[in-house]
Amino acid sequence: MVSSFLHRSRVFLIAVLCAIITLPALGGEKVAIWVDTSKAGAKIDRNIFGQFAEHLGHGIYDGIWVGPNSTIPNTRGIRNDVVAALKAIKVPNVRWPGGCFADEYHWRNGIGPQRAVTLNPNWGGVIEPNTFGTHEFMDFLDQIDADAYISVNVGSGTPREAAEWLEYMTASQPTTLAKERAANGHAAPYRVGYLGIGNESWDCGGNMTPDYYLSQLKIYSRFVRNYNPEQQSKQQMLKIAVGPGGGEPRWTEWTEAIMKAYQSHTWSWDMNGLSMHSYTVVKWPPSYASIGFGETEYSQILKSTLDMEDLIDKHAAIMDKYDPEKKVALVVDEWGGWYAPLPGSNPGFLVQQNSLRDAVLAALNLNIFARHADRVRMANIAQMINVLQSMILTDKEKMVLTPTYYVYKMYVPFQDATFVPVTFNAGIYTHDNITLPRVDAIAGKDKSGKLWLEITNVDPNRPVEIEVNVSGIGPKSAAGETLTAPKVDSVNTFGAPSTVVPKPVSAKIEGDKVMLKLEPKSVTVLAVEQ
Ligand code: AHR
Repeated sequence: MVSSFLHRSRVFLIAVLCAIITLPALGGEKVAIWVDTSKAGAKIDRNIFGQFAEHLGHGIYDGIWVGPNSTIPNTRGIRNDVVAALKAIKVPNVRWPGGCFADEYHWRNGIGPQRAVTLNPNWGGVIEPNTFGTHEFMDFLDQIDADAYISVNVGSGTPREAAEWLEYMTASQPTTLAKERAANGHAAPYRVGYLGIGNESWDCGGNMTPDYYLSQLKIYSRFVRNYNPEQQSKQQMLKIAVGPGGGEPRWTEWTEAIMKAYQSHTWSWDMNGLSMHSYTVVKWPPSYASIGFGETEYSQILKSTLDMEDLIDKHAAIMDKYDPEKKVALVVDEWGGWYAPLPGSNPGFLVQQNSLRDAVLAALNLNIFARHADRVRMANIAQMINVLQSMILTDKEKMVLTPTYYVYKMYVPFQDATFVPVTFNAGIYTHDNITLPRVDAIAGKDKSGKLWLEITNVDPNRPVEIEVNVSGIGPKSAAGETLTAPKVDSVNTFGAPSTVVPKPVSAKIEGDKVMLKLEPKSVTVLAVEQ
C-alpha cells in the first residue's frame, strides 16, 4: 500500500482497496515516509504563495487602506499592523485590482488629488471611492516588499487604456504620462512583475468565446508594454492569459484553444502564464458554513479540495501537448475555500471565518502546487484580507491572523526551495462515506541545502506516528512547528486570537530516521539539521 504522491489519485484507489482487504492491520498508527535526498525536483517557485486583493467588501478599504487621517496606526494611509503581518509571511506578489472588479476598473479614477467616486456593481453595489489606486497599491507593495500582479481591464476597457496605464506606471522617459506620475508623487518608474490580461473572460469578464478572447489577448499582449528600463533584458514582465475555471469540457476546450494558438504564436504576441481558477465550494451557490460545522463538513470540504490535483493534471496535460518545454506557467491565481457568507454580513462582501479546516485545506493545496512545481509556478489564494479564505481579518482597529495565515508563515522555508521527492504509505481516513488519504507530505531543500519537511495529518481523530527515512544526509536533529486546535472548526477571533496558532515541535532521531507523533488534524513543518 505504498503510494507515490506523484500519481496520487490512482495509487490512493489501490490504497483504499488494500485497506479494505487488510483492515485489521490498520490498527498500526505508523506512517513511513521515504525522502529521496539524492534526487532534486523543480524549484518550488515562491510565487505559489502569492496573494489576491480585490476591491471587494473590506478587502482593500479597512483591510489595507484606512487613509492617512485614521486613528488606526498607518503609514501614508496603509495599516501598519497589516503590513507587519504580511511582511512576516514574505508575500511574493499581490494580484490587484480584481477579479471581476478589474474588468470594470478604469485606472484614471484612482490617480491624482481628485478621485472620481464610482460604484462597485459586482460586489454589493457599494460606493467605490477610488482613494486606493495605483500609487497606494504600489506603496503598499513597497511596504510589504512584494511584486505587482496587475490585472488590466479587457472586458470594458480598451487596449489603449491598458497601454496607457502601463506607460503611466513604468515609463522612465519624460512622456506626458510619466510626468503626470511624477507630479502625483512618484518620479521613478514602478516595477510591474506580472500582467493579467483579463479575468474570467469566459464569464464576468465579458462572456467571451475562446476565439474572441484570443483576438483580445493578441492585441493586449502586443500593445500593453512595460517600459521600466530595469525590466527590459531581465526580470521582464510576465503576461498571464485567462485560462480555465474548472475541469468540464468548456474549460478543456478553452485551454486547448489558447495553448494551440500559443504553439504557433508569432513574434508579435506572447504569453508566459495561463491562469486557472478553482475554488473549493462543493455546491454552488456556496452554502457550507465557515463556523459551527462538524466532521462531516470537514471531510466533505477536504475531499472536494483534493480535486485540485486532477484539475491541474488535466490542464497540465493539455499544456504539455502544445508546450512540452513548459515555458508557459499554470497560474492558479484564484483558489481557496468559498463558503456561505457569515450571517449578518453583506452577501456581496464574501465574508467568512477561517478555521483549522482551512489550514489543512491550504496545506493540501500548497502541497499539490509543490508537486507540480515544474508547471505551477504561481498561485494566488483568494483573498488576502477580509474576503473568502483570508490571511487576516480586521474590524476597525482590531486585527486577527487566521489559521491559513499561520500555514503560510510555516511554509516560508519552502519559498524557492528545491522539491525533493517523497514516497509514503498515506493510509486512509474515513468518515461516513468519505475516504481521504490520512497523511500528506512534501519535502524541499532550501538554498543553504537544509532539508524541510511538511506533514499533514488529515485525520481529525487519530494521532499518527511518523517515521521519516532521510538516508544519506545523516540527520542530527529535527524541529519545527505544528498547527492544530481542539476542533475542526476552531477559529481565531478578535477576542480569542490564539486558538489556532503554531507551537514548537521536535522529533527524535534514530539513525537515518526522523520520528515524531503528529496530532490529529494538524499541519507540521520541520527543519532537519545535518
Ligand atoms: O474572488 C471572488 C471572485 O471570484 C473574483 O472576483 C472572480 O474572478 C471570481 O469569480
